[in-house]
Amino acid sequence: MWWENEFVKERKRSLYLGGEPAEQIARRHGTPLIVYSRAQIQANYKTLRREFSRTSRLPLRVCYAMKANPHREILRLLQRKGGWIDAVSPREVEAALQAGFSPRRILFTGTSLSTADLRRVFRIEGLTVNIDALEQLELMEELKRKEFPETTIRVSVRWNPGIGRGFNPRAITAGARSTDGTPIKFGVEKSKVMTAMKKALSSGFLPVGLHQHLGSGWVDEDYRVVAAAVDRMIAMAARAEKEGCRLEFLDFGGGFGPRYEERQRVFPLRRYAAHITRRIAEAGLGVKAIAVEPGKYLVANAGVLLLGVEYIKESYGQLFACVNSGTYNSLPRPAIYPQARHHIVNCRRVYDGKMKPVTVAGNLCETGDVFGKEIAMPVPRRGDVLAVLGAGAYGRSMASNFNLRDIPKEVII
Ligand code: LLP
Repeated sequence: MWWENEFVKERKRSLYLGGEPAEQIARRHGTPLIVYSRAQIQANYKTLRREFSRTSRLPLRVCYAMKANPHREILRLLQRKGGWIDAVSPREVEAALQAGFSPRRILFTGTSLSTADLRRVFRIEGLTVNIDALEQLELMEELKRKEFPETTIRVSVRWNPGIGRGFNPRAITAGARSTDGTPIKFGVEKSKVMTAMKKALSSGFLPVGLHQHLGSGWVDEDYRVVAAAVDRMIAMAARAEKEGCRLEFLDFGGGFGPRYEERQRVFPLRRYAAHITRRIAEAGLGVKAIAVEPGKYLVANAGVLLLGVEYIKESYGQLFACVNSGTYNSLPRPAIYPQARHHIVNCRRVYDGKMKPVTVAGNLCETGDVFGKEIAMPVPRRGDVLAVLGAGAYGRSMASNFNLRDIPKEVII
C-alpha cells in the first residue's frame, strides 16, 4: 500500500498500528482516539538529518514547529534527540521549556505580538526572538530600554522574500499576496531588512540570524519556486554580511510535506538540502549553522485518528459512514481547507473485491464536516473502526469544542 510506513501497515487485509491490530487498540482505549508513534517520528527525524548530512558539513538545527503538535511526549522525544524548537506564542515557549528544551534551542517567531508577549519571552535568557516587522522592533526597543537594559537578547529577522509556496492559498506565508488575493502579513519586506538588522543592533539586541518561511505542504512540483526562494535568501544573507552583520544561522523554515495522497510525489528533500549547501558555499557565507522548521514532515504520518462507525446511511445514492467524532474536534483540515485530503481505511478490512465510494461524515452540524469524500473502501458496518491517516500534524493542535463535542483522547505508542 502506498501509505504504509514503520507505524501503519496492512497485514492480512487488516490495519496494524505499531505491530498491533488497530481494532484492538481501539477496543482497549475506545474511539474516537488519536494514536501517535514514537518510532515513526524518530524515523522521520533520522531521514531528514541524513538528507542534509549527505551534502552539508554545517550543523543542522531541526527546529520542530510545535504548532503542528505540541503533545508533551513528542516534545520530549525530540528534545532527547537533540532537536530545537520553533515556537510561535509565549505558551508554546513555556511548553518547550517544560519538555526540557534549553532556551538556547528555542526560536520564537511570533506575529502581531503585544508588549506583554514580548515581556514573557525576554525574561527567558538565551532564547532567540525572530522579528516579524520593523514596527515590532519599536515595541521591542522600548521594552528593552525600560525593563531589560542589561540583558543580551538574541534576535533574528524573518524576512519575506517576495515569493511563497503552499498547498492552498491559506498555507502560503510569503510574497505580497497569496494566490487568492489575501495580502500576506508575515515577515519584513526586502527593502526594510537591512534597516531592521541595523536598528536591532543599535537598540542593543544581538542579531544572529536570518529566517524565511514560505508556506506549508510542499510536494515535488513546488521545488522550483522553493529553490528560487533559497537563492533570494542567500543573496540577502550575502548583503547582510557585506554590511557587517555576523550571521550565526540561516533558517529556511518548514513546508516540506509528507505524502497525504496517492497521486502526490513527495518534495525532493535531498535535492533541496544539496541546493542550500551549494549556494551557501558559492556565496562564501560565514554562517555556522543551517536551520529548518519542519512540522508536518516530522509528525503528520506518525498519527492516526480512529473513528467508530455508528451507522451507514444511504441518501440520494450516496453512502455515508456516520462516525463518532467531528472534524473540528479532532482533525479540522478537511473541513477548513478544500485542498486537504486524508486517506481513510476500514481497519477490519482494508480492501476486498467490492470496494464502494464512502463519504465519512462527522457528528457536527456543518455540511463541510466530512473527513473524506467518496473514498473507496469495503462498505463499513456498524461498530467498525475507520482510520484517518496522516492525522499527526495540525489535527489535535487545531481542534476545538465546536458543538460542545469533546476532543478525542490521544495515546502514544
Ligand atoms: N515555521 C513557521 C514560521 C511556520 O509558520 C510554520 C507553519 C512552520 C514552520 C511549519 O510548517 P510545516 O513544516 O508544518 O509545513 N494548518 C495548516 C498548516 C499551517 C502552517 C503554518 N505555519 C495545515 O493544516 O495544513
